[in-house]
Amino acid sequence: MNTALITGTSKGIGLELAKQLLSRNYTVIGIARSPCPIEHDNYFHLTADITSEECPQLLKDIFLDQGFSRLDLLINNAGVGATGCSIETIDVNELRSQFELHCVSAFKMVQVLCPYLDNSKIVNITSRLGSTKLNARGDFNGKGFSYAYRIAKAAQNMLSLCLAGDERLSSNLVISIIPGLLRTDSGSRDAKNTAEEGAQGMLDVIFFAPANGIYHAFGHEAEY
Ligand SMILES: NC(=O)c1ccc[n+]([C@@H]2O[C@H](COP(=O)([O-])OP(=O)(O)OC[C@H]3O[C@@H](n4cnc5c(N)ncnc54)[C@H](OP(=O)(O)O)[C@@H]3O)[C@@H](O)[C@H]2O)c1
Repeated sequence: MNTALITGTSKGIGLELAKQLLSRNYTVIGIARSPCPIEHDNYFHLTADITSEECPQLLKDIFLDQGFSRLDLLINNAGVGATGCSIETIDVNELRSQFELHCVSAFKMVQVLCPYLDNSKIVNITSRLGSTKLNARGDFNGKGFSYAYRIAKAAQNMLSLCLAGDERLSSNLVISIIPGLLRTDSGSRDAKNTAEEGAQGMLDVIFFAPANGIYHAFGHEAEY
């Protein structure tokens, strides 16, 4: 049986990914600060803040206690939106916490789970808002998008590139996925697609992506 670890499984995309992987016979370890509504023999929930200092040790404990010997799929999904769209309104603490959540925590997951990753897939859930190419092109200028979120996702994209170039991890596939606009608590209210539809597209990418890189759940433009 394949094993997946997903961060942010209490709701939204992470919850849907967990449900769909369970239906494909995966064992799923989920993490969130709140409980998860899933009740399934093959679902293990760790109630923790992924930015906390104790999270890596809690993860090590769960792997040892449950006897997991490998991890086929790591999905760094947990994330929240941010405010502050103009220079006067940026909260430095929010900038720090966004970086910590979207980039540093994803890094810590890979670092602590490295011994279990071999011929596995490391997936970072990103956003088109983190694309340096699209930001440089001016796609988001004056449209009210948060500095902190864009910076944090861009940093996460760089993490993906660093991981993809790391010899120690060379047996693994490292992919970033843009979920598209989905109706979740962190998504936009007028999004056309549900988390369920997004998760289906994301799993297609996860199972069929031919190489390291960035992909869109609905096949649209995807650029680092
Ligand atoms: N929805 C979209 O349209 C969209 C578009 C582009 C990118 N994304 C990205 O997709 C990912 C999932 O977003 P979503 O729309 O599913 O958001 P969501 O519905 O708000 O769910 C976010 C999940 O992340 C968890 N989380 C947040 N902070 C956490 C922390 N410190 N420790 C542990 N878990 C934490 C939340 O659980 P707790 O609050 O219980 O901890 C929740 O389970 C995010 O990275 C987001 O940036 C979403």
